Amino acid sequence: MIESKALILAGGRGTRLRPLTYTTAKQLIPVANKPIIYFVLEQIINAGIKDIGIIISPETGNNINELVGDGSRWNASITYVIQDKPAGLAHAVKTAQDFLGDSSFLMFLGDNLIQGGVRELVHDFNNGYSESIIQLKRVKDPRQFGVAVLGSEQQVLRLMEKPKEPPSDLALVGIYLFSSAVHAAIDRIKPSWRGELEITDAIQEMLNMGLRVEARILDGWWLDTGKKDDILEANRVVLDEYAIREINGQVDDLSDVVGRVNIAHGATVTNSVIRGPVVIGEGTQVKDSFIGPYTAIGKGTVLERVSIEHSVMLENCWLSDVERVEDSLIGCNTRVTSSNTKRRACRLFIGDDSDVAI
Ligand code: DAU
Repeated sequence: MIESKALILAGGRGTRLRPLTYTTAKQLIPVANKPIIYFVLEQIINAGIKDIGIIISPETGNNINELVGDGSRWNASITYVIQDKPAGLAHAVKTAQDFLGDSSFLMFLGDNLIQGGVRELVHDFNNGYSESIIQLKRVKDPRQFGVAVLGSEQQVLRLMEKPKEPPSDLALVGIYLFSSAVHAAIDRIKPSWRGELEITDAIQEMLNMGLRVEARILDGWWLDTGKKDDILEANRVVLDEYAIREINGQVDDLSDVVGRVNIAHGATVTNSVIRGPVVIGEGTQVKDSFIGPYTAIGKGTVLERVSIEHSVMLENCWLSDVERVEDSLIGCNTRVTSSNTKRRACRLFIGDDSDVAI
């Protein structure tokens, strides 16, 4: 069977990434200055799939649509499917039934990144005879994931969603291949204790129906970008793997730019030290500052007399006279300055659900 479609799940509420997700979808948060969903799209397209559906929520769907467009920039076709409420991953598949038709499909959670892509997985599915292949990864604490138990030939025996006492250390990475048989299984399941139609339960139902489900265990990294520290970790891993030295902006003679540093067009670096891996977006100005490893600075930002490392800054921020910013995730249009008074006071104007450590 020729694999022809993919479904990216980019709905959901993103509550664990508030306040950033009040204004944007979590799948659009950049890692190494590139929205997470772009990595997902590129991996799908690299596996030869060009007919892609994206599940979006009514709240953040427009943002995704604006940034991703109709897919023509990747020579792919993108269909947006609105899921009216985040009622679960299997509910999302049900919502996309018109788009999916009778096709088999690759399903990819829009906030997950894996090393090496999905080419091999898609190839195996197309050349095999199972109704589903799921991607797994051994993890230390599987309780927050779907968990699988395998037989001797990598066939899946049993699955559970977020078990309190995991029967194995094999977590479900958010990447699945399905034949159209999954739809009948979804029709047979009931909402879980958290009120969601779980894809894990649907795959268990496929097993109950006597269908063959296989698994592949991932050796490389897997990043589930649900929380702030996950974004910083994803930024570190992706910069480590993909950052290359490319200086398109202006760097003056007083500055020192060391290692794998990517400076976009229109950016300026004056009297500063930058130690890679680092990416700096278009039009950003860095003055009298230090930028340390594993930092991504979005476009249109100004940094003056700042030292920052292991951090992600989104677009159009202003930071001045701030020492030792570390392990930080800073949203768009944010301003952080030092108060010019002798009293050592913090003057804060921050949004709901912010997290500040002073
Ligand atoms: O990250 C891997 C885990 O993803 C798996 O191990 C679990 O088995 C699987 O159920 C899922 O668990 P999460 O609870 O972490 O899923 P989350 O709610 O974060 O949603 C994952 C993605 O799917 C996210 O990009 C939002 C999107 N989504 C989620 C729901 C609930 C939708 O598009 N629609 C939805 O209804």
